Amino acid sequence: MTKKMSTHQAEEDRRNDEILIYLNGEIVPKAEAKVSVYDSGFMLGDGVWEGLRLYNGTWAFMDEHLDRLFEAAKAIDLDIGLDREGVENALLETQTANGMTTDAHARLMVTRGVKTRPFQHPSLSQQGPTMTIIMEHSRPNLPRPIKLATVPHIRGLPMSQDPKLNSHSKLNCIIACIAAEKAGADEALMLDVNGFVNTTNACNFFIVRKGEVWTSTGDYCMNGITRQKVIDLCRENGIPVHERNYSLVDTYGADEAFLTGTFGAQTPVGEIDGRQIGSGQMGPMTERIRSLYKNLIEKECA
Ligand SMILES: Cc1ncc(COP(=O)(O)O)c(C=O)c1O
Repeated sequence: MTKKMSTHQAEEDRRNDEILIYLNGEIVPKAEAKVSVYDSGFMLGDGVWEGLRLYNGTWAFMDEHLDRLFEAAKAIDLDIGLDREGVENALLETQTANGMTTDAHARLMVTRGVKTRPFQHPSLSQQGPTMTIIMEHSRPNLPRPIKLATVPHIRGLPMSQDPKLNSHSKLNCIIACIAAEKAGADEALMLDVNGFVNTTNACNFFIVRKGEVWTSTGDYCMNGITRQKVIDLCRENGIPVHERNYSLVDTYGADEAFLTGTFGAQTPVGEIDGRQIGSGQMGPMTERIRSLYKNLIEKECA
């Protein structure tokens, strides 16, 4: 048995026991950062969130994160109660309160707020949004490449719950992850409605075949900011990259596979459904893309 792991694994950091949390305009100690049992997010998963990473004093790709947050809020008809500058200031205020300068990760969450009665109808959420920011010291730490298992839970069509919404309700992804764990893997590889390989339960997914980088068409997965940066980096550096449909046969036969996300940047995949991918270790293309991404971050967060 290999040790349990996840793509969002970080080095143990005791400073996170004492962090300060942003809660509706106030900065409060972690132990006191509590929301109501009537909160729309707690009760129904009615809210949206963003994950951001701090490098060298700068929140990477802030514009893209704010665009996605406001787009999602508009889509679910949620008034965040702050403009872009207000959200950015809340993030900076939390960062300053925690004295964080680099290697921090923020989960910024906005829900439809406290409900007057414990039922679904959004008109019962009348008290304004609940906004929280959990900011932790965070250095990703993966002792080995990740293992994936394909699961029966698929990425749905946009008219049910659009997979592009970073919604608080992640049950589809969570049951996918549970199924993968029960199959002995770390996380789930999810297919789309047509059976093509799409994404994992928490990250975007890429394969490398004969020097080409492939990822899904993007139709059924989160419009990952790291995903787009990797595609752009490939294009700028003469690496053939394709957003296309591909199957499990293409995937098992790939030379390399890796995941992308704000938390872990690019995470190598060593095994899928009990098949070793390539050498089972991080491959040269993944290594090259990781180094290109690191340079991009150094430029962006100088
Ligand atoms: C389901 C899912 N896929 C992929 C990602 C990665 O997106 P990003 O690169 O913007 O962090 C996330 C992160 O929010 C996610 O929730």
